[in-house]
Amino acid sequence: MGAQIIDGKSIAADIRRDLKGRVDGLREQGIIPGLTVILVGDDPASQTYVRSKQRTSGEVGINSNVIELPKDTSQSELITLINDLNQDDKVHGILVQLPLPGHLDTDAVIRAINPAKDVDGFHPTNVGNLWAGLDGGFAPCTPSGIMELLHRSEIEPSGLNAVVMGRSNIVGKPMAGLLLKANATVTICHSRTQGLEDHLRQADILVVAIGRARFVKADWIKPGAVVIDVGMNRVDGKLCGDVDEGARDVAGYITPVPGGVGPMTIAQLLVNTVIAAERTLLL
Ligand code: GUN
Repeated sequence: MGAQIIDGKSIAADIRRDLKGRVDGLREQGIIPGLTVILVGDDPASQTYVRSKQRTSGEVGINSNVIELPKDTSQSELITLINDLNQDDKVHGILVQLPLPGHLDTDAVIRAINPAKDVDGFHPTNVGNLWAGLDGGFAPCTPSGIMELLHRSEIEPSGLNAVVMGRSNIVGKPMAGLLLKANATVTICHSRTQGLEDHLRQADILVVAIGRARFVKADWIKPGAVVIDVGMNRVDGKLCGDVDEGARDVAGYITPVPGGVGPMTIAQLLVNTVIAAERTLLL
């Protein structure tokens, strides 16, 4: 008996369809949700992501604008641009594509974004809201998308052992915060964790975000567990996850790579942008 495959591509398409209705509702009230993406430099992977964000935004009726800046853009030029966007009522969401070139201070750039427009959920105010369990902020898109995958697959985290592998600010840490908010018992494992396999074998829900191809083996997985693979590794030109394919014979549910978590990240970015626009109606 193989694991049930969680089809992120199809769930993301459902989310986009739902969103289109909300965007139409906003338009009737004279609001067109606006997302501005700032891309500094010419990193090809970032350019690919940004193009994909723009195309998908257009499909649901979000007005998406990409500002491309040269790689030698100064800190003050970038902060000035963010300040202008913070003041612009037509811009509901601001996303600065990471990583930034090395001479720029990423933390200061993120802090410059108005938290109400921080659709990435990276601003310390939004990080604090997430960990304090407060509503009204934004959580980062990949972990929010994973919570939506669980929800739409009718997997209820409350009371379960959730193990998150990886402790990045973009995925691992906010993932742990969201699972805790959903009443899971959460363990975070990382590159220094001792007895890793023993921790993993306890996991009813396992989220792996370490960027190491096929690192997690089938016999580390509890039979019937929910396995969420955030990995996007290229091996011999082929995309593969952080979890070995043999896991499909052990897990109860598993996300494929590609077509699992990946499509959910952009869908969630659009959700956050629409939420940011809807909140302006309440001001
Ligand atoms: N680079 C890789 N993932 C992300 C993301 O979710 N947001 C931003 N801004 N940059 C990224």
